[in-house]
Amino acid sequence: MNKWVRAHTNIALIKYWGKENEDLIIPKNNSLSLTLDAFYTDTSVTFDDALTEDELILDGDKQDARTLSKVQRVLDEVRTLAGLESKARIESINHVPTAAGLASSASGLAALAGAASQAAGLDLSDQELSKLARIGSGSASRSIFGGFAEWIKGHDHDSSYAVPVDDAQWDIGMLFIIVNDAKKDVSSRDGMKRTVETSPFYDGWLNSLDADLSAMKQAVSDRDIEQVGQIAERNALKMHATTLGASPPFTYWTAESMKAMDAVRALRKLGYTAYFTMDAGPNVKIICRQSDLSALKQELSKTFGDEQLIAAKPGPGLHLLN
Ligand code: ADP
Ligand code: DP6
Ligand code: CO
Repeated sequence: MNKWVRAHTNIALIKYWGKENEDLIIPKNNSLSLTLDAFYTDTSVTFDDALTEDELILDGDKQDARTLSKVQRVLDEVRTLAGLESKARIESINHVPTAAGLASSASGLAALAGAASQAAGLDLSDQELSKLARIGSGSASRSIFGGFAEWIKGHDHDSSYAVPVDDAQWDIGMLFIIVNDAKKDVSSRDGMKRTVETSPFYDGWLNSLDADLSAMKQAVSDRDIEQVGQIAERNALKMHATTLGASPPFTYWTAESMKAMDAVRALRKLGYTAYFTMDAGPNVKIICRQSDLSALKQELSKTFGDEQLIAAKPGPGLHLLN
């Protein structure tokens, strides 16, 4: 009986947006994220000689070849490391909307790295698990760890992995405004590729990253929520600006996203510490004090439905379930 492994999603405060090496998923820049308790994936893997092909059952549905190809990168690496040839059956449950800009690829591929290595009898270090998750989806490298994690870009498979930065056991939280949980039109993978290849704004994004990253690391170590929020918001806006310069241009924002951003600015006018970040999707995440989560939720329920508002605290790293 194989074990189930759980990984939580993470949201980047300094974004990963572009690959130096698409095959190995080596990023253009370091990124820094917070792992959250509210959203996660549970996955179990069985290697079985009787299987004729790998299969992925996600939320009860057998997945197509495109989705399978992402997970096969991880499976193939595990087979190489363990000297296995058998095919695998993956069962996975997303406690997060899939492909909606809520980081399902982060929790999904991190849980897979944990479950596949466990099923193959490998006993990998967190650094090895981070590298394994990374070749499935870049952001997944950071979901091996709880709290704040930094993905060190590195330059090859062995040097590109995430490290824990701070356990986040202080007054920080995130409030999600879910404006649409449907599957996005442009995947993160395709969106960043198009941006790197065609957007004249991409260099401007890259040039300002070191400054944002070092300021963010200082703010985290100072537990300065106001600074963490300010830096994260401006970093996210710069990332989204790059997509408008792409050819063909695109944006992950919708009218509802703009409404949510306005609502966050209104919270600031009321005196709250509240800053937003957004990923490859229309949903808005508010960086705030954990102790303000219920007050902010109540304030926002004047504008959004209760089912659209999800409060999150810092979450744990990858772990086995009993
Ligand atoms: P998101 O914003 O949700 O991370 P992405 O475009 O980055 O969106 O990735 C979504 C893709 O990640 C899915 O289409 C699927 O290929 C993969 N994925 C998501 N959840 C899982 C899972 N539990 N197991 C395996 N693959 C997953
Ligand atoms: C905007 O990790 O989903 O959420 O590596 O191609 O699988 P692939 O992409 P993915 O990209 C995440 C992009 C982001 C920013 C971030 O999480 O750092
Ligand atoms: Co993703």
